[in-house]
Amino acid sequence: MNDNSLPLAGSLNSSPDSLYTAEATERLARQWTKNMWNGLLWKQVSWLGVPVQQWPTDLILMQQLIFRLRPRVILEAGVYLGGTAVFYSSMLNMMQIDGQVISVDIAIHPEARVNTANCAYSDRITLLEGDSKSPATHEKIQQLVGGETNVLVCLDSDHSYAHTLAELRVFARYIPVGGYMIMFDTVCEIVADTPSGNPQWATDNPLRAVREFLASQPTDGPQFVIDNDCEKFLVTFCPSGFLRRVR
Ligand SMILES: C[S@@+](CC[C@H](N)C(=O)[O-])C[C@H]1O[C@@H](n2cnc3c(N)ncnc32)[C@H](O)[C@@H]1O
Repeated sequence: MNDNSLPLAGSLNSSPDSLYTAEATERLARQWTKNMWNGLLWKQVSWLGVPVQQWPTDLILMQQLIFRLRPRVILEAGVYLGGTAVFYSSMLNMMQIDGQVISVDIAIHPEARVNTANCAYSDRITLLEGDSKSPATHEKIQQLVGGETNVLVCLDSDHSYAHTLAELRVFARYIPVGGYMIMFDTVCEIVADTPSGNPQWATDNPLRAVREFLASQPTDGPQFVIDNDCEKFLVTFCPSGFLRRVR
């Protein structure tokens, strides 16, 4: 068995104990992430009947984070059919948090309008059409956010390096110390070489933007770090994507 091969059950060289080491578990989780992403299993996920383009353990993680932070505003970029907007609004409602979801998309899908209007928590959702990195969009966001400081940011729009780096820099302003900004689909880099992936993602991806964002933070400004605890379920579409503001 070489270093990169998986310690699969049935391997003649694997003692049972070696199948359960932390390293073996991590390698298995990484390969499982690639296989299930490649198999498009995530397209089967829905929340309250609305398709949501997330992996289930990431939704559980978001639930835990929302419960802990009790955000008054959840600001998301990337709406698609409205699945995450519905998910976040239902979490706020269930947890009796006096909070709103502001969901930005460059082109609001007609089905997203229907899905969010029909959900039981529609009064908590505001859809905003615009480029998530443009100053015009942020003027509108700032009006909606008002003076609220307990903001949680979820970035899941255009996954290119240039766009995500610009997004990280422009959305960072909303996060309080102790708050989070999540870059979704950092998994693109990891799945670039799968049959359903795209070789271009090996370099053009949100994970590279996260690394650049963290490395280029001005020392006299807000400081973000990766919260590795948010990867406790090992299988995630957001590796190194949960950024916590520490200063
Ligand atoms: C991955 S989908 C969002 C999925 C949704 N968050 C969910 O989990 O169900 C990406 C969305 O980003 C939007 N988008 C692409 N470029 C954008 C941009 N520059 N600004 C805002 N939204 C953008 C697309 O229109 C698309 O609806």
